[in-house]
Order: sequence, then C-alpha cells, then structure tokens
Amino acid sequence: MFVTLEGPEGSGKTTLCARLEHMLVKKGHQVICVREPGGTVIGQQVRDVLLDQRNTGMLPETEFLLFSASRAQLIREVVMPHLESGAIVLCDRFLDSSLAYQGYGHRLDVGVLEKISSFVTSGIAPDMTILLDISPDEGLSRRKQDPESWNRLDAYSIDFHERVRKGFLRLAENSPNRWKVVDASQSEDAIFTEASTILLSALDKR
Ligand code: TYD
Repeated sequence: MFVTLEGPEGSGKTTLCARLEHMLVKKGHQVICVREPGGTVIGQQVRDVLLDQRNTGMLPETEFLLFSASRAQLIREVVMPHLESGAIVLCDRFLDSSLAYQGYGHRLDVGVLEKISSFVTSGIAPDMTILLDISPDEGLSRRKQDPESWNRLDAYSIDFHERVRKGFLRLAENSPNRWKVVDASQSEDAIFTEASTILLSALDKR
C-alpha cells in the first residue's frame, strides 16, 4: 500500500510519518517511511540544490523539474521495490506537492505538470493521501521556531502559501476517495490518533 502525507509548511507531516511507521511496525507490518525531495543519495543532492537559500533565482519550471528528478529516482530505487515486496510505503510529500506548490503556488499549468509526471512516476500513484491542513500563518510560525529547518521555499510570500493551501484542498475535493483531510491545528497526539484510525481502517479493508 502506498500512502502519502501532504500539507503546507509546518503541518507536522514528518513527525506524523515517523509515528505512523513506528505504530505499523509494532503491529507487525513491513513498512518504510521516505521523504521528498530526497529519500535516495541522488535525491538528497537534488534536495540540497532545491532548498539552498542562495538559489534565489530558481525558476518555477526548474523547481518542478528538479522535484521531478528526485521523484523519478525515489520511485524506481525505493518505492517500486518495496511495494513489490508487499511493504507499506509512507511518503512524506509526493506529486501532489508539485501540483500544489509549482502548479497552484507558482501558477504553472497543472495539466502540463500532470502530463510530465506520468512519465516521472511510471503511473505509480498513492492508494491514500492524508492531507494535514493548516493555515500558512500557523504553519509558518511553527517553522520559525526551528530556524534550522527554514528553507528557500518557506520564504515565498504569504499569498503563495495561501494558494498552496487552497491547491491542496482543491486536489482533495477533486478525488475524495483517495484524500483524507485532517485538521493539523490540533495537538500532535490528536493528529496521530485521527491519522492512525484512518490508516488502520483502510488496511482492514484491503
Ligand atoms: P522540507 O524541509 O522537507 O519541508 P516540509 O517539512 O514542509 O516537507 O522541504 C520541502 C519543501 O519543498 C517544502 O517547502 C515543500 C516543497 N516542495 C515543492 O515545492 N514541490 C514538491 O514537489 C515537493 C515534493 C516539495
């Protein structure tokens, strides 16, 4: 089963991913948690270029293609082999982040991004996507508490981050069977409880 976690900055995906992985392992599942961009040695190098605050001149198109390059590597090197071996793959961001940030945020044509992405992903798509929804004000102020994690994209305007949030909500509305929306302004424990219930009930149905 391929599960992706999506959401704006500071929504708590990374913490949730680690806790879900731990919970599933304890229940005896084979599970791996990976993140985008990154998740492979080559992807990690691409991540460094993408998030480097010195790269202020990076164009939206370049951004999208670099995220896609990292994704192409992750899909073939990690995601596909694990899915084939029957593991649950938890992925901290995936293609929907490109549609939300580069599509809705930077206003690149979402249809074009989807077309290029079918080549990038070889048609591998999430079975379930959990959206941790939070307002940019709240998410970015959480991020500011940890200056180490501040990156080049965090510094985009608040309007950009508003469009990203709305983009995620629009994507979720368009495919309600795949997306589950969780209010990420709740406590870390409440988010974990809600997300685990969603995930475990989906696993039961399989
Ligand atoms: P990261 O530090 O991993 O942030 P987070 O903890 O919020 O996931 O940085 C990833 C950044 O890259 C984040 O700002 C979202 C952005 N991003 C895109 O713009 N497009 C994409 O396709 C992906 C995967 C991430």
